[in-house]
Amino acid sequence: MSRSQPEPVRETLNFDERIVLEHWSHRNTSVKDYWASHSATLERFEEFWASVAKELEWFKPFSKVMEPGEYPNVYKWFVGGKLNMSYLCLDRHVKSWRKNKVAIVWEGEPVKDSGEPLEVRVLTYYDMWRYVNRVAYVMKEKLGLKKGDRVAFYMPMVPELPVLMLAAARIGVTFTQVFSGFSAEALASRISDLGARYVFTTDGYYRRGKILRTKEITDDAVKTCPTVEKIILIRRVGQTETPIDPAKHTYLDDLLADVSPTAYVPPEEMDSTDILYVIYTSGTTGKPKGIIHDTGGYAVILHATMKWVFDIKDEDIYWCTADIGWVTGHSYIVFGPLMSGASIIMYEGAPDYPAPDRWWSIIERYGVTIFYTSPTAVRAFMRMGAGYVTRHDLSTLRLIHSVGEPINPAAWKWLFELVGGGRCPVGSTWWMTETGGILISHTPGLMLVPLKPGTNGPPIPGVEVDVVDEDGKPVPNGVKGYLIVKRPWPGMPGPPTGMLGDPERYNLVYFSRFRYFFTGDYAIKDGDGYVWVLGRSDEVLKVAGHRIGTYELESALVSHPYVAESAVVGAPDDVKGEVPIAYVVLKSDAPHTPQIRDELRRWIRERIGAIAEPKSIFIVSKLPKTRSGKIMRRIMRALATGKPIGDVTTLEDEAAVEEVKIAYEALLKEIGEGGRS
Ligand code: WTA
Repeated sequence: MSRSQPEPVRETLNFDERIVLEHWSHRNTSVKDYWASHSATLERFEEFWASVAKELEWFKPFSKVMEPGEYPNVYKWFVGGKLNMSYLCLDRHVKSWRKNKVAIVWEGEPVKDSGEPLEVRVLTYYDMWRYVNRVAYVMKEKLGLKKGDRVAFYMPMVPELPVLMLAAARIGVTFTQVFSGFSAEALASRISDLGARYVFTTDGYYRRGKILRTKEITDDAVKTCPTVEKIILIRRVGQTETPIDPAKHTYLDDLLADVSPTAYVPPEEMDSTDILYVIYTSGTTGKPKGIIHDTGGYAVILHATMKWVFDIKDEDIYWCTADIGWVTGHSYIVFGPLMSGASIIMYEGAPDYPAPDRWWSIIERYGVTIFYTSPTAVRAFMRMGAGYVTRHDLSTLRLIHSVGEPINPAAWKWLFELVGGGRCPVGSTWWMTETGGILISHTPGLMLVPLKPGTNGPPIPGVEVDVVDEDGKPVPNGVKGYLIVKRPWPGMPGPPTGMLGDPERYNLVYFSRFRYFFTGDYAIKDGDGYVWVLGRSDEVLKVAGHRIGTYELESALVSHPYVAESAVVGAPDDVKGEVPIAYVVLKSDAPHTPQIRDELRRWIRERIGAIAEPKSIFIVSKLPKTRSGKIMRRIMRALATGKPIGDVTTLEDEAAVEEVKIAYEALLKEIGEGGRS
């Protein structure tokens, strides 16, 4: 299952290029001092995490920092403690001077005729608290939802999404938020796996000037989901393409109409170990897995990283450009920043709509101070030209981080110099859906070690990681190995089973290879102990930062009536980091027409979503396999990237390689290199 050549967009790495920001002198720390204080946190591990956790407001204090759960490698954090995420994000601020502080500035995508004001909604903490209470009232009293029940959200980037997440958290209802770009089938499999009673979605939303149809996709999805009692619709575009059926649909507005504006629903006193939400992510099998996040441990990692990594202050205007459909948005748009009492920006649409300066105009318009974004977006903007950036005043920015994939030094420098004006610390925060929060990053809010273009930096305090070889032995500095996390951490997959309903798979995926949590990533540690994550070592792709399993794509392809076999591999891409390339063997009775590739693309869009669409589809008559019948992905990847194919002694039939090669070359000729086919 291991990938021999991870090829993220990456230039030569320079482990010795150190950048120290003089004006950050209040925090600048030598590498040696950082490690000394880091070791101290590990020596007093439980005491350390207890002291961080005590900064939160608990309804009942915890009696134990950490203990093993019912299943192996699932830990219970802050045992005995009781708290509520909605209380931490809202009630606490409403009781303070932050009551009428801005919580969310939301900007819609549409830009109408010149001169017309943009569509902007501003919600204060008090507005949010009132709205969340009313929605929690609806959930509880009108929809009959109670603690432990499950719901699904298929929501685009509108303020109602954080409202729904916080309302569910308030009454202890477990939710899953499904990225609004996923297809009906992908949505259906998540709704069914969770057993959701309701699905909340919008009547549509705007993206690149078009209306996208979330209601219709949800209608399709729930056809195969018997647990769903109703679809609750949030108005966004004001129209649906297909009719409303009162037996199936209800507008949230209508449910709210007779709810008192001062409705109050007391926050449920949740055990620290109770589930907050489930989030589905791709792994190395066909089926996405539901990762469980608990309440207490997750709250603590977010609280800690908002302070240490983002240096969040009351006067900050914080913008994370992710979509809330991904874990980054859960942790660092909604829960982390709102727990911190920050003012956040939310933007509905595409970065380059109506022009490639949309993001930079947002930073200027609201005076954003902290900016959290992705390497893919940066590389896409680099191509569009510096002028779109420099025409805006970005001087309010003081701190920048990226996430989701390795940042190549050139992209880092562009962010540092052009966007950050050479003033701002720029980091690359490493974490995963499974980790809940950032585990490896510079910590400008605490101590700032020298920056290096392209590194993730050292692990945060209280977190121990290492880079090891096949046998689990630490590799020397500068040598590529596998990234592991050596101790449990708050925010790790939560009780009872880590992965929803599947404790065995949880252990198999993360703990069977090494004794410790295996991240699936390749990494290098440099002489300063900084980690440089290189990319995935398994059959998981990061396409524009989105996690896509090659097996998930292959199972979708072979479910097509014309497809006999398929193999999907990742190929490097200058903007997206990596893109899927599919090799397909058609059944003998399938029509061999040029249109078949379009048909297979449509199929993938319907089964998974547009983000998973292969860049190229090669039709071949056989796949290179070993004598024991295993597809040799290594060879397919080499062929797709023009690399030498290496050792082929285990190959069953060399003609298959020849054929893949010929198909690849023919295709290149047909479309010109880099094109889509
Ligand atoms: C990759 C995203 C290098 C890594 C929060 C990991 C990164 C996977 C970085 C998890 C980074 C994330 N530098 N690689 N700063 N951040 N990754 O679950 O391969 O969507 O295993 O979580 O993204 O992706 P996920």
